[in-house]
Amino acid sequence: MAAKIWTVAVVGCGVGRLHLAEGYARHPDKFRVLALCDLDPARLAAVGDEFAIPRRTTSFDDLLAMADLDIIDICTPPTLHGAQILAALAAGKQVVCEKPLAGSLAEVDRVIAAERTASTRVMPIFQYRYGDGLQQAKRIVDLGLAGKPYIGTVETAWKRGAKYYATPWRGRWDTELGGVLLTHAIHAHDLLTYLMGPIASVFARTATRVNPIEVEDCAVATLELASGALASLACTLGSHKEISRLRLCFEHVTFESTQAPYAPGDGPWQIVPGSPEAARRIEDALADHHVVPSRFEGLMAAYHAALTSGGALPVTLADARQSLELITALNHSAATGAAVSLPIGADHPRYRDWRPAR
Ligand SMILES: NC(=O)c1ccc[n+]([C@@H]2O[C@H](COP(=O)([O-])OP(=O)(O)OC[C@H]3O[C@@H](n4cnc5c(N)ncnc54)[C@H](O)[C@@H]3O)[C@@H](O)[C@H]2O)c1
Repeated sequence: MAAKIWTVAVVGCGVGRLHLAEGYARHPDKFRVLALCDLDPARLAAVGDEFAIPRRTTSFDDLLAMADLDIIDICTPPTLHGAQILAALAAGKQVVCEKPLAGSLAEVDRVIAAERTASTRVMPIFQYRYGDGLQQAKRIVDLGLAGKPYIGTVETAWKRGAKYYATPWRGRWDTELGGVLLTHAIHAHDLLTYLMGPIASVFARTATRVNPIEVEDCAVATLELASGALASLACTLGSHKEISRLRLCFEHVTFESTQAPYAPGDGPWQIVPGSPEAARRIEDALADHHVVPSRFEGLMAAYHAALTSGGALPVTLADARQSLELITALNHSAATGAAVSLPIGADHPRYRDWRPAR
């Protein structure tokens, strides 16, 4: 029997257009996009026409009332995410939501509590997990073949200028909620924890040097992972050559991504075994590996499989919380000049707001 085709509404036609182009449109046997929502009628019409979406609305609430809609995919600016997720869960919809999932750890914990009692689930977006190079590395790690993690280096060196910051919500603490750490490097930092595990402690420095904005556009940090491994993060929006790069050294293997800035999961990753025995075990492990498509195409295929089977979602609220816990710790460290330990709970001074005091 053919798997169910899930019906979708996309809210927000910026990156929402990419969810359509790279995600839903590549899987017509898995998803049907019934509705599109944006406050901007011109964007709504252009994207609606491009993907022949039958229903268009400027009202999010209209989507909540559509009984034949399974999934609401939220691609609005960051300060709207928490309330829109909670409303969609309350209406019985499956929810997909762009990063950052929420505006504080307190808010993400409210979403986690709401999902616990809901009949539906929330999938945060981390599309950079998808791509063949990274998924091969993930398989090797998950099978226990990589051994003890030693050290990770993660670079996010992108370029953003005046045109990007012309969008009014960008560049300000009130509306973007953060800078390069929250909006850009959040992806590569998720990849670090996806492959090397949770973080125990951070020390960070941030600076605003590239653009005339409030939020940081350069940052560095040193991390101690829960395993005892170490990692360094470096990110900027002022790199004239754009790259994303992960280099992860484990006991039995060293992984190095390509430098593709916006598809770091894509292959080929360099996978360098530490011994002939490790090489043989890795070769055996990858013998039946199927190519994993890149970015939203791979993520949405995995999402459909999880919805249909009821199995674990490819990205979970726990993953989103982990990424926002790192943001909270990095911002607190940069503001105080001190190392910050994780986990961060409700008693932490930045639990309700990771932004600097203004
Ligand atoms: N995963 C990624 O690679 C990626 C890339 C870009 C942006 N993002 C994230 O996606 C989100 C949106 O970013 P963007 O670049 O698309 O921004 P954008 O400003 O280009 O697009 C957001 C759209 O949402 C619409 N909108 C605003 N309020 C709305 C409301 N109440 N109801 C319906 N529509 C509304 C706006 O009119 C706008 O068209 C942000 O959280 C951003 O961080 C993720």
